[in-house]
Amino acid sequence: MNLFQNKTIVLGVTGSIAAYKAATLASRLHQLGAHVHVAMTDAATHFITPLTFESLTHRRVLRDVLALGADSEIEHVSFAKRADMVLIAPATANTLAKLAHGFTDDVISAICLDTRAPILLAPAMETGMWENAATRDNLKILTQRGMFLVEPNAGHLASGASGKGRMAEPQEILDAARHVFARDGSLAGKRVVITAGGTREAIDPVRVISNHSSGKMGYALAEEALSRGANVSLITSVDELPNPYGAEITRVVSTQDLYDTVLGEMRGADVLIMAAAPADFRPASMADRKIKKEEMAEWNIELIRNPDILGEVARVRANDPANAPRVVVGFAAETNDLIQHARGKLERKNLDMLVANPVPQTFGSDNVKATLLFKNRNEMDLQPMTKENLAEVIFAQVEKLLK
Ligand SMILES: Cc1cc2nc3c(=O)[nH]c(=O)nc-3n(C[C@H](O)[C@H](O)[C@H](O)COP(=O)(O)O)c2cc1C
Repeated sequence: MNLFQNKTIVLGVTGSIAAYKAATLASRLHQLGAHVHVAMTDAATHFITPLTFESLTHRRVLRDVLALGADSEIEHVSFAKRADMVLIAPATANTLAKLAHGFTDDVISAICLDTRAPILLAPAMETGMWENAATRDNLKILTQRGMFLVEPNAGHLASGASGKGRMAEPQEILDAARHVFARDGSLAGKRVVITAGGTREAIDPVRVISNHSSGKMGYALAEEALSRGANVSLITSVDELPNPYGAEITRVVSTQDLYDTVLGEMRGADVLIMAAAPADFRPASMADRKIKKEEMAEWNIELIRNPDILGEVARVRANDPANAPRVVVGFAAETNDLIQHARGKLERKNLDMLVANPVPQTFGSDNVKATLLFKNRNEMDLQPMTKENLAEVIFAQVEKLLK
């Protein structure tokens, strides 16, 4: 779900070396379909030219608090009213101080004082400035008044020093902006637990048994739930994918870890989506040192069954529904007789919905051809689509099931 489409965003750029990153931000927001109006302080124009932003956004840059627009409207008042969000990136210590104390002697601070739109701040400054009690107090005032903050990172600073104060990267700022827009979404106040990735079962300290699940589907589902305003708990075995911004992440390795975590996390959850591919079997025992190939000509590993996570979820739902999610969605990945196996799983595990995928095509791919099966025996045979689009389709159905 693209929350930026047709949103009017005033992007305030202030006098920091990080102003160059605001060009990426303006470009990305424009590409996402937002109407981006850049406002700059005088100091900011020493770091990057208005021409850059005007080329990227195809809109004039706002620079003067005393300017009148077309039809003689007062520009900063007009943009304060039209904005769906004011995003200040980078936000200097000076601008934060002005905002905290209600100054309006530049176009950005004037818009901020007048607007009713959410304001998101992405500060950038030297560590000394960031840690100074004045900045701490100013930020406390601003966040207590309801402004949103995407904290700077620790790292290399323009002065050559290293420490906290480096502006968050554009992607992180976009994620934070999405999080702000999502807070009134259709799943606001709902808790959604999602699992992702294939589990790994240790044979010895070096070797594992696993499967080809990439976790991409689970991560796409987490992003979609976050865009709809849900509180998302993502239980994942994947290290390679970026953490969805705003999700509470729990890392697991084995199916037993996943089982323990899911049963704990699902209490009080509204929705559980099991997109992970848990290993069904694990070695009966794990060697405590690496098995050397010179020691044996062949190696037969005895495998035992792992606990059945969805089976246990079904048991809790039947015996103690107050402690189980209202909607449970499973996935089935099959090489043959997909729909028949999927229907059997849906019934055995008492699922509300099951997403059936053919494998190996689905594993690791960005696209998927899925069929949705429902408890009431309805089926939706979907066209091939990206995992992001499938996540949208799944959540549209989940929302119906929650009603
Ligand atoms: C090279 C250079 C880099 C600067 N970087 C920052 C910065 O990252 N953060 C900051 O708060 N001030 C920084 N400053 C100081 C601000 O530009 C200065 O405080 C200015 O008055 C801010 O004005 P503004 O908030 O109206 O944009 C920098 C100054 C220079 C010369």
